[in-house]
This record gives sequence, C-alpha cells and structure tokens, in this order.
Amino acid sequence: MIADHGKRKPDNVMKKLDIYNDVARQIEAVIEGETSVTARYATAACLLNEAFEYFFWTGLYVVDPLKPTELVVGPYQGTLGCLRIPFGKGVCGAAAETGETLIVKDVHEFPGHIACDSRSNSEIVVPVFDKSGKLAAVLDVDSTEIGSFDEDDKAGLEAICKTLLA
Ligand code: SME
Repeated sequence: MIADHGKRKPDNVMKKLDIYNDVARQIEAVIEGETSVTARYATAACLLNEAFEYFFWTGLYVVDPLKPTELVVGPYQGTLGCLRIPFGKGVCGAAAETGETLIVKDVHEFPGHIACDSRSNSEIVVPVFDKSGKLAAVLDVDSTEIGSFDEDDKAGLEAICKTLLA
C-alpha cells in the first residue's frame, strides 16, 4: 500500500528533498518489475503531480522514434499540453538539445517559450536517458508561481528520472 499524503508544501518539518525521497520510494515501489515505459512514465507523472502543491503540469515529452529531433507528448497530469516540440524550441526543446536540466524562473523571459497554458509562470525540464546514455524523453514540470524550482528540485527530479528506464 502506498502512503497517500496528498499535495504537500515544503516547510521546516518536511523539506523539499524529504518529499522527493518519499515520492521516489513510492514511484520505485509501483514500477518495480514493470517493463512498459509508458506505465513507468505515467506513474512518475501522477505521483509527482500529487506530491507537490506547486506542480501545476507534470509530464513527459518523449523523443519520437520516427523523428529523432522531435519530442511528442507522453503521459502527463494537468491541462492540455501541446503535442509536439522540435529540439531547440521552448524550454523542453532546449533541454532535449543540450541534455542538461533547465530551471526557468520566469517563462515569460525565456526566448521561444511555448505557452501551452498561460497560467504557467516557471518551469523545470529534466532529461531522461536510456541505458545506453541516449536521450529518451524530458520530464517537464510547470508551476503557476514565479521561481518555484531550485537546486533541490533539480536533484530530486534528476534522481527520479535516473530510475525511469532502469
Ligand atoms: N513549457 C514548455 C511547453 C510544454 S508545456 O508547458 C506543457 C516549453 O516551453 O518547453
């Protein structure tokens, strides 16, 4: 049985990294032995979105096997996301191109940001690599607040992304 804490806001008792450790354990418990990548991604998107109060849109954009420089939307939680993002476009496309996590404090100041929902104000995008080190997807988390994401979100989400294709 997975503990259901509902959406949480980090405070002095429960720090961001504690919540990430908790949700990482939940994700691992659910996806253990699951061979479907879609099921693994869907579990992470759902449990992450449920864990944090400031997660407004949480999901994966997957590298299209038919168009290796284009991302196509995968499992997500939130309002309607755009379907396709070419490498190099928007925050997701920039992270896909560089293979590096991107934290954007204010999306309105990011050149070429793709506004799927005008309520998004900050975001973090984390690359997901397969076992051979090739980019498989990016995890995109959006918040309605400016400056929601910091180095703790980067560390917590990168650790979770490493387990998704293991
Ligand atoms: N914000 C993204 C687009 C995807 S949506 O926000 C769901 C970007 O600029 O890459």
